[in-house]
Amino acid sequence: MGPGPWPLTAERDDAGALHVGGVALTELAREHGTPLWVVDEADLRERCRRYREGFPGVEVAYASKAWCTTAILQIVDEERLLIDVVSGGEMHTALAAGVDPANLVFHGNNKSVAELDRAVEVGVGRIVVDSFEELDRLEKVAADRDVVVPIWLRITPGIDAHTHDYVRTGHDDSKFGFTLSLGLADQAVRAAREHPHLEVVGIHAHIGSQIFGTDPFVANAEVALDLLARWRDEFGLTLRELNLGGGMGIRYTHEDHPVEVARYGEAVLRAVDERCERLGLDRPRLVVEPGRAIVGPSTLTLYEIGTVKVLPGLRTYVSVDGGMSDNIRPALYDAEHEVALANRAGSDDPMPVSIVGKHCESGDLVREHGSLPSDVAVGDLLAVAATGAYTESMASNYNRIPRPAAVLVSDGDVRTIIRRENLDDLLARDVPL
Ligand SMILES: Cc1ncc(COP(=O)(O)O)c(C=O)c1O
Repeated sequence: MGPGPWPLTAERDDAGALHVGGVALTELAREHGTPLWVVDEADLRERCRRYREGFPGVEVAYASKAWCTTAILQIVDEERLLIDVVSGGEMHTALAAGVDPANLVFHGNNKSVAELDRAVEVGVGRIVVDSFEELDRLEKVAADRDVVVPIWLRITPGIDAHTHDYVRTGHDDSKFGFTLSLGLADQAVRAAREHPHLEVVGIHAHIGSQIFGTDPFVANAEVALDLLARWRDEFGLTLRELNLGGGMGIRYTHEDHPVEVARYGEAVLRAVDERCERLGLDRPRLVVEPGRAIVGPSTLTLYEIGTVKVLPGLRTYVSVDGGMSDNIRPALYDAEHEVALANRAGSDDPMPVSIVGKHCESGDLVREHGSLPSDVAVGDLLAVAATGAYTESMASNYNRIPRPAAVLVSDGDVRTIIRRENLDDLLARDVPL
């Protein structure tokens, strides 16, 4: 299909039908129903590799909040990425996927004692402490288990990543981390050193998500290294680990122009090496933790079109059989995803349409200002691009709509990785009077 937001193996056959991983989407819809998440395994593995190669000497952790399901974690683990989790549930999934606990990084701004205790019990590689309360909680957990726990402190570096408000985390007014400009990071490192069962081995700074351009990442690295040098000088503390977070933007539509991983890696590593030299620091053990950029582009969502409502002089509404319960991003962030007919190419005179879901909300949008062939009809299949990140992981049962299935496609093989929810699943937690 040419360059764009579609998975690497996406292509149209001579009749115009879309295939991914060597499988026709019409066949997937027939066998597995719609809505359906279709994951291109080759694309997913390739993105893991590009990160490892684009960041030589750096560890890459997959931020599993983007899509935390057993099979996805198994693939990412096979591709030798670390895995970042932010809750007991994500940790449980990673352990169920067979991930070595030492390869887990545990984030979160309000981890419970139970979550911290499980992390310490299983031996999670690094716990990223986010608050003064957590320092005390983790100290007690570690003392009770009579172990010393290596930690990173999450620093809020005061960098505005110029992205959507809901995915900015590096600016001062954030719920995450110890704010550098207010002196909280200094207080945190002093406090941590008074906790005998905690050992600060590094820091973590993540500035936000869906960021284009390398400058904010370079600035983040420089601020973090300046801090390591200052703590060395003022506190005699040598920290050897630095996690620079994730947030690299991806292409959702043809208008998005993300930075190539290799260019991003080069820019950050050059800045790190220059800054280290200037500050007289050894290059720390570096970690980056992309989520969206690993899993987002690998996946499309397949829907069936159920109604086409023409409002002369106003607009045309095209309704699909899913919507905000399987992709909340357009409603939450005004996100745009590229769309295309999947069962045929359609006529070559596009018309503007609003593609909407089947939920009882006017904000239930798939693509508000989209374009489809003017002969779009009921029964056509619609593919929505780049839906691997923050869709299944944020899915709900709003309007009691069962969540879709997900299939992994590769070289003509199809494997179900999430089974479709059924009506009984919807009642499974109900306790009738
Ligand atoms: C601490 C942390 N690391 C990594 C990520 C991953 O961000 P992205 O999926 O944009 O790469 C997030 C996203 O919220 C995050 O909070």
